[in-house]
Amino acid sequence: MKSCSSVVVAVLLSLASTVSISAAAADIEAGRQLYSSNCIACHGMSGKADADDPVVKALGVMPADFSDALFNSREPAGDWEMVIKYGGHALGLAEQMPAQGEALSDEEIRDVTAYVKSMADTSAFPPGEMNLFLPIRTKKAFPEDEYVYKGRFTEQDGEDAWKNVLEFEKRVGKRGQLILELVHESEGDVSELTEAEVGYKQALSFSDTHILSGAAVVAVPIEADGDGELQTYLAYGRILSPSWIVQSSLRLKFPFEGADDGAAELAGIVHWVHSPWPRRVYPGLELVAETPFRSSNGGLEWTAMPQVRIGLTRGGHVALNLGVEVPLSDQAWDERVYITLLWDFADGSFFQGW
Ligand code: HEC
Repeated sequence: MKSCSSVVVAVLLSLASTVSISAAAADIEAGRQLYSSNCIACHGMSGKADADDPVVKALGVMPADFSDALFNSREPAGDWEMVIKYGGHALGLAEQMPAQGEALSDEEIRDVTAYVKSMADTSAFPPGEMNLFLPIRTKKAFPEDEYVYKGRFTEQDGEDAWKNVLEFEKRVGKRGQLILELVHESEGDVSELTEAEVGYKQALSFSDTHILSGAAVVAVPIEADGDGELQTYLAYGRILSPSWIVQSSLRLKFPFEGADDGAAELAGIVHWVHSPWPRRVYPGLELVAETPFRSSNGGLEWTAMPQVRIGLTRGGHVALNLGVEVPLSDQAWDERVYITLLWDFADGSFFQGW
């Protein structure tokens, strides 16, 4: 079983850079003309709608500013093609954004999207395409604005255990992100806040098909006898093809008291992205290997985690992950169940687009 999992992780990690996504290049000049005739009245010449314009005033919603590089970079072109084709309502945005699927061909929609994407210089920002699905244990590379609740239930002899984590992630600058976390644990009658975590993540390298980030997180104990910890990780994401994505991370944990008690964790996940619609169920398979630095502290622990991502809102900015973690080696527990609820608050309020 072990060797089988190592093979899978090795494959996940070393995936060939030869796989490329084939799509004919969009014609930006044709897109500019389509924009002038179909979009300019509401979105404005520069991509920033004019708030004083009577047409824009009558909309009652201010269209977002395409010339804003942070906003422009973080929205994947594929999502915008969907909004343009099927209209704002279909993707959880305002219905004032009209569907253009009757008026424009798919190729024209690609051209006009490429033009809209060119309205800001986004070269210094990680592209929204690389904002891949949040895995359960593999660390995510894309810097974002998000609230995440993670619950982990472990069935144990005697007293079952819950670990609850509330995470706040805030985009900083062009490629950074702040991390704040509160950890709550309960086992039997004992239920307490155990830890607060503060950290920072930075995208180190990215393109339209890959992203690599590094992060450092300090865990501060809240309970009296807890020990603090420094965690550092590298996180990598890659789009293999329009329907397959992989992510992996390598995390090192150094407890403040007795750094020898630290551990390394290697995790990887593959997701099948079978549809462009966000409100779907997307299966993934994750593998995690964790080993203490000192072999006297135990051996390598393997787990497999089949999971699904369920887009809840029409635009998928609120989503649920459900997964079961199954030990492949000698762990002290039989299985763990995970529930993650995430809200990407850069894409709208929690209640928008259900
Ligand atoms: C009648 C006015 C109107 C026209 C015409 C129009 N739009 Fe929009 N569009 C809007 C409004 C309003 C929104 C904002 C929806 C929201 O934020 O809820 C929007 C949103 C969008 C978005 C989504 C941005 C986001 O928030 O992620 C894209 C992309 C877009 N429009 C592209 C286009 C393109 C390209 C055209 C021309 C082919 C076009 N629109 C024509 C009004 C219009």
